Amino acid sequence: MKKIRSLVILAATSVLAGQVALALPPPPPAQPPAAGPVPPPQAQGIPPAGNPPPAPGAQGFGAPLPGLTVTQTVDAMDGNSLFTTPRTPATGLGPIFNDVSCAACHSTPSIGGWGRTTTTRFGQTVAGIFNPLTSLDGSLLHARTTIPALQEVIPAQANVAARRLTTPLYGAGLVEAIPDAAIEALAAAKKPAGIAGRAALVLDVASNTTRVGRFGWKAQQATILSFTGDAFDNEIGVTNALFPTKHAPDGNTALLNAFLPNQAINDKTDPATGLSGIQLTTAYLEVLAPPPPGPATALSAQGARVFAAINCAACHVPSQQTGSSTIAALSNKTVNLYSDLLLHDMGALADGIAQGNAGTQEMRTAPLWGLRTRNLLLHDGRAATVDQAILDHAGEAAGSRTAYTQLSAGDRQALLEFLGTL
Ligand code: HEC
Ligand code: HEC
Repeated sequence: MKKIRSLVILAATSVLAGQVALALPPPPPAQPPAAGPVPPPQAQGIPPAGNPPPAPGAQGFGAPLPGLTVTQTVDAMDGNSLFTTPRTPATGLGPIFNDVSCAACHSTPSIGGWGRTTTTRFGQTVAGIFNPLTSLDGSLLHARTTIPALQEVIPAQANVAARRLTTPLYGAGLVEAIPDAAIEALAAAKKPAGIAGRAALVLDVASNTTRVGRFGWKAQQATILSFTGDAFDNEIGVTNALFPTKHAPDGNTALLNAFLPNQAINDKTDPATGLSGIQLTTAYLEVLAPPPPGPATALSAQGARVFAAINCAACHVPSQQTGSSTIAALSNKTVNLYSDLLLHDMGALADGIAQGNAGTQEMRTAPLWGLRTRNLLLHDGRAATVDQAILDHAGEAAGSRTAYTQLSAGDRQALLEFLGTL
């Protein structure tokens, strides 16, 4: 990467001089899938994978935050390259995995965005106790393989399975920089009747400390580095310093060992920086700018008031503040994410999977920034419209949902117009 670095340092310097907007390198041309069969979708009425064309107004999505240093910019470009380059078995792919690169899933309306691809979680619930079937390589299904004999399936013991839609990563560094104490303070704050919410306390593998989880549908990870290590391992099969062990298909280690005798750690340290692949990928995700908001209208301002009045804002808290950060671009900033990052009991909408600190009924309040680029919503993509997503709210959000159904036509239109500006 050394030669490329000196070139991009030049490019990055002119960015800092304000001459050109930083264009992260384009993704490499699509490769034929390096992998074996994809099992048939679980027939839940969910549209198949394959991203829609970028939404109108996609400009600005996927840009870096303003005010980065040259080193931050160049590390981010290296990380972007690792995020987009398809892996092959020679570069650590699999043998069991879900796709060939991060960008294969996180690609709408730009690299780093959301995606129509869903992953599958499963487990076994007996007498209300969820068992992730860890010995059978639960709870995440690795749906593809480079070696057909290693094809993983949902084990017969599983009696619950749920899909998870690919979430957008814009603004992840800002979300990470919100202090744990600020999220805990939101949990402790007084809320409208029927609404609770608690901070997810998870073990952060990167720092080996208990932290407030905030990433993922279940707030199952606290830091980008831990999520990235997990995604390298689970989504593309690339073992790394945080997750050094290859997944054996359905837990069958003998089978894995028979087909893959060499299981050295796949992630490589970049000699130019001394940083590992997961660290560089983290450096990229940390400085991804938040989704640029769409223009407000007279009606959307009215809709913002309706959003607060019917308690959407009690969970979808419009903004939070970051603390001080070693990265100046993340330090003491306002983050307009429309989420309290807390876990809520969502009743019938919940996915039945326990993960991290989240119980089977609990989901993290989904951030609503960038909502206008989405045409699949909720954790399993069950809703195609914002109206449907609201109508599917249950549990702690039941009162807010009912209030929505009782809005005047004008207020409802204003609310939807407001949500369409996010
Ligand atoms: C097969 C599709 C797929 C691939 C490949 C993939 N992801 Fe994801 N990603 C997802 C899904 C699905 C979620 C939501 C997961 C959840 O909550 O269980 C997610 C969530 C995330 C999040 C958390 C964002 C948030 O707050 O919700 C991060 C960070 C992330 N992915 C990083 C990566 C990185 C880095 C890679 C490459 C190593 C990667 N992903 C590869 C599907 C994918
Ligand atoms: C009790 C907390 C709570 C309240 C109140 C609430 N929501 Fe949500 N909202 C959530 C959670 C949790 C999710 C993710 C649920 C899932 O997918 O399983 C969510 C998801 C969404 C989504 C889909 C986002 C995505 O990324 O797919 C939209 C849109 C949304 N909410 C809008 C609203 C609106 C509008 C209101 C007010 C009428 C509202 N919500 C009230 C907690 C809440």
